[in-house]
Amino acid sequence: MPIVRFEPARRLAGSLRVPADKSITHRALLLAALSSEPTRIRGALDAEDTAATAGAIAACGATVTGDLGEEITVAGRGLHGLRPPPAIDCGNAGTLIRLLPGVLVGQTCDRVVLDGDDSLRRRPMERVADPLRAMGASIWTAPGGTPPLAVSGGEPLVGFTHGLAMASAQVKSCLLLAGLAATGVTRVVEPGPSRDHTERMLEAAGAPIRRHADGAEVEGPVERIQLPDVDIPGDPSSAAPLAVVAALLADDEVRLTGINLNPRRTGFFEVMRRMGADIELVEAGEVAGEPTGDLIVRRSERLVATDVGGEEIPTLIDELPLVALLGALASGTTRVTGAAELRVKESDRIAAVATTMRSLGVPVDEAPDGFAVRGTGRIPGGRMDAEGDHRIAMLGAAAGLLSEEGASVGGYEAVSVSYPGFARDLVALGVEA
Ligand code: S3P
Repeated sequence: MPIVRFEPARRLAGSLRVPADKSITHRALLLAALSSEPTRIRGALDAEDTAATAGAIAACGATVTGDLGEEITVAGRGLHGLRPPPAIDCGNAGTLIRLLPGVLVGQTCDRVVLDGDDSLRRRPMERVADPLRAMGASIWTAPGGTPPLAVSGGEPLVGFTHGLAMASAQVKSCLLLAGLAATGVTRVVEPGPSRDHTERMLEAAGAPIRRHADGAEVEGPVERIQLPDVDIPGDPSSAAPLAVVAALLADDEVRLTGINLNPRRTGFFEVMRRMGADIELVEAGEVAGEPTGDLIVRRSERLVATDVGGEEIPTLIDELPLVALLGALASGTTRVTGAAELRVKESDRIAAVATTMRSLGVPVDEAPDGFAVRGTGRIPGGRMDAEGDHRIAMLGAAAGLLSEEGASVGGYEAVSVSYPGFARDLVALGVEA
């Protein structure tokens, strides 16, 4: 397992376009596969997770031509024309394995097996399986409610109102996709607002979707959708670790360009600002129905602790590990609460954050639903392991750059899931290789 060393960095400067948005890429591929005519997708994320989705739609009969990171054309098969193979490997992609059942229940197929790597095999799936069954679908999960799962499609589905126990864009998206094939209204009610990319994209594709303050609904059965050609904006979750390093080390300023600034994705930058970071979001237009623009980060003199919780959590769910890093460098105690969901991400991210930060010399208290970090203003450094989780690998790398003695990141290759060029981009911003 490769160990990559990140030495303390002195400065960060320049401008960079971060990789394309992973959430939007997954959705564009799936909706293009369900479209009646070909869709061109420009600048999709070329990483392991999205390659799994491109592979999945191709295996189901959509024709995918071109280069993911450049431009691809997806010739879809219409809402009910996909012909899934007996088994689909979803790799590490939680979004794929949660959204795909919503697509498959509308296709003619029998017990298609969805499986993935060891990390994916620990992800709870009943949260999508159970509500799909309530709509009339046949779907089985492994004991414990995890993958592998089996999905049959083509059975009559009826609309249903789903009250979600937790705000989850993946669950919401799966059910809205299934709702396209169901008779009547499929409504999803969320306890708090999760990312709304599926709603935006379904609307652009002409689906009869209605938004509500507490969720969304779709009225089916829908005959056709057509995703227009789409450019994919940059991923705020990939910008986040660079923004943290820049907040401490920016020389003049660091500009991260073309980022998706959907307010349901930018909670982390608000938290950074609250902690005293000098960070500016400059909106510059719309891409894929999402507000986009640049993130400008200047060096901050002083960071102060903050509390993160409640409805804010879904807006920075994937960036919460980085809050621990900022907390270590701030004065006071930074607390994250109401984030039990982190326990069932690509790793148990509460445990992984605590272990990582402790390995690097920063004391962290773990709670069932979050963590607390007493800021000392310093990260001594050391050796940590990514535990197969891309976000933890980037946490370790960023921590190393901001540490006194550097960090060795075991399992660094996990970054390929969302940001294969992370180390190269750090070098482009002036970090010495
Ligand atoms: C995602 C939603 C989030 C997030 C995941 C991507 C999506 O999960 O953690 O990395 O693309 O819909 P939940 O909404 O299930 O919490």
